[in-house]
Amino acid sequence: MTDNPKINRLLELREKSRLGGGPERVEAQHKRGKLTARERLDLLLDRGSFRETDPFVTHRTHAFGLGEQKALGDGVVTGWGTIEGRMVYVYSQDFTVLGGSLGEAHAEKICKILDLALKNGAPVIGLNDSGGARIQEGVFSLAGYAEIFLRNTLASGVVPQISAILGPCAGGAVYSPALTDFVFMARGTSNMFVTGPDVVKAVTHEQISAEDLGGAAVHAERSGVCHVAAASEADALYLIRKLLGYLPQNNMEDPPFLPTDDDPLRMDEELDSIVPEDPGKPYDVKDVIRHIVDDKGFFEVHEGFAPNIVVGFARLGGHAVGIVANQPTVLAGVLDIDASEKAARFVRLCDCFNAPLVTLVDVPGFMPGTTQEHAGIIRSGAKLLYAYCEATVPKLTVILRKAYGGAYIVMSSKHMRGDINLAWPGAEIAVMGPDGAVNIIFRKEMESAPNPDARKLELTAEYREKFANPYVAAERGYLDDIIEPRQTRQRLINALEMLQNKRDTNPHKKHGNIPL
Ligand code: HXC
Repeated sequence: MTDNPKINRLLELREKSRLGGGPERVEAQHKRGKLTARERLDLLLDRGSFRETDPFVTHRTHAFGLGEQKALGDGVVTGWGTIEGRMVYVYSQDFTVLGGSLGEAHAEKICKILDLALKNGAPVIGLNDSGGARIQEGVFSLAGYAEIFLRNTLASGVVPQISAILGPCAGGAVYSPALTDFVFMARGTSNMFVTGPDVVKAVTHEQISAEDLGGAAVHAERSGVCHVAAASEADALYLIRKLLGYLPQNNMEDPPFLPTDDDPLRMDEELDSIVPEDPGKPYDVKDVIRHIVDDKGFFEVHEGFAPNIVVGFARLGGHAVGIVANQPTVLAGVLDIDASEKAARFVRLCDCFNAPLVTLVDVPGFMPGTTQEHAGIIRSGAKLLYAYCEATVPKLTVILRKAYGGAYIVMSSKHMRGDINLAWPGAEIAVMGPDGAVNIIFRKEMESAPNPDARKLELTAEYREKFANPYVAAERGYLDDIIEPRQTRQRLINALEMLQNKRDTNPHKKHGNIPL
């Protein structure tokens, strides 16, 4: 305290604001294994960099006894700070104040942050821990959510928007995160649902726990709502800091360059034998990625969702890139609905934020069957086609093994404005795999052969020799070159540098009509 009563009043009020819902509720928060809104910001931001806005804001409601429950700050801590020295705007909901629920004033504070982020071109990170629309504030709460959704949408593709779910997020509290670029969840302490278990029971008579309805595992593996499921809150905040290292401040900048000691000319002999001789045998494409990129560093996104395709960020010669790779260890790397949507969203994200795309192809095709057809694989596959066709960032493709049919086209082929398209010598590029192709085009011949099985083997070998290789595509220039696998890193880095000033545009329009 000082000798100046006016300054003392300021200090008292500031301290009151810092306390949120008070020590008992803070203790309850800790007992649930959760940090407070301010403790989370301390972990997220560079030490001492946080500057708070609106610590004295309160709600203006008297209904249902709310007049007696006013907390300075109204249940959300807002402001800005730095991560690795780069400016970010933040808001962190305080569950100790009315369950972090969102009323009019709480929403106005978040909107101020979103407006600042958009105007000043810096990422915005929301730490969510909220019971949703503050029931006592009625339509004012709904209006508050609407104002946030509008700003999330307008900021989409302009500044990176990242959400962490660090508690129960219900109702409106899930839609703002869903509109942002990334959703992080903490395993065991976070949930997301439009309606909670009680409402579910009343409406559908299903009995389900909050964790089974909308825990991190469910959203990271089944719904795809969550991009990164972290082991804990602290881990989620650490991973957000890491992710930002791959993203620019806004859509007018390139992602940060990070010099590396990993030699850009490094040859990797292990790559020469990483793909098994037998085309039916799987291998882990993440091993291929680690062999190619700087210092084996790979930040995987959507790891648990549609694992038959792998997406994430890495660096090549210091340049941040987005990687999309079919994963032969899961469903032979086939493209199904979830894989198509996962990859399409990632491709669009990279295109928004100027991260060149590196596509590693080993794909037998689109998944056949009524389940996929009836659930709309045509619509979903079209999203991936659309995303790659529309993307104007540098696009580098390496065909590692199979590239069959529509899946050859969709995986960043030359025909869809691929800038540099390479293949390893064992690549098989064809309308379909040798087995299926021979069954169709040589059916009559095999039926009349004295030994159909032996004839089939002969014809399959002939087909593989004639069509299932990279040279037919290379003759036409659909491939720019066929390379030894060990050269992949240096060839990709060289291509990235060659494409550094790439400028490509799409026809002027209000916006396209991606098949949603
Ligand atoms: C006002 C709320 C609140 C809310 C929680 N609280 N949610 N106050 N409005 N929406 C208050 C509680 O009354 C309680 O206050 C304190 O926060 C802590 O809540 P608890 O229930 O004790 O905590 P917990 O057991 O951990 O349960 C958390 C919860 C649950 C799962 C979030 O509170 C819950 O189900 N809340 C309602 C969720 C919901 O249906 N929200 C509205 C969605 S509609 P006291 O003083 O008793 O400690 C919506 C519309 C927008 O959001 C749609 C836009 C598209």
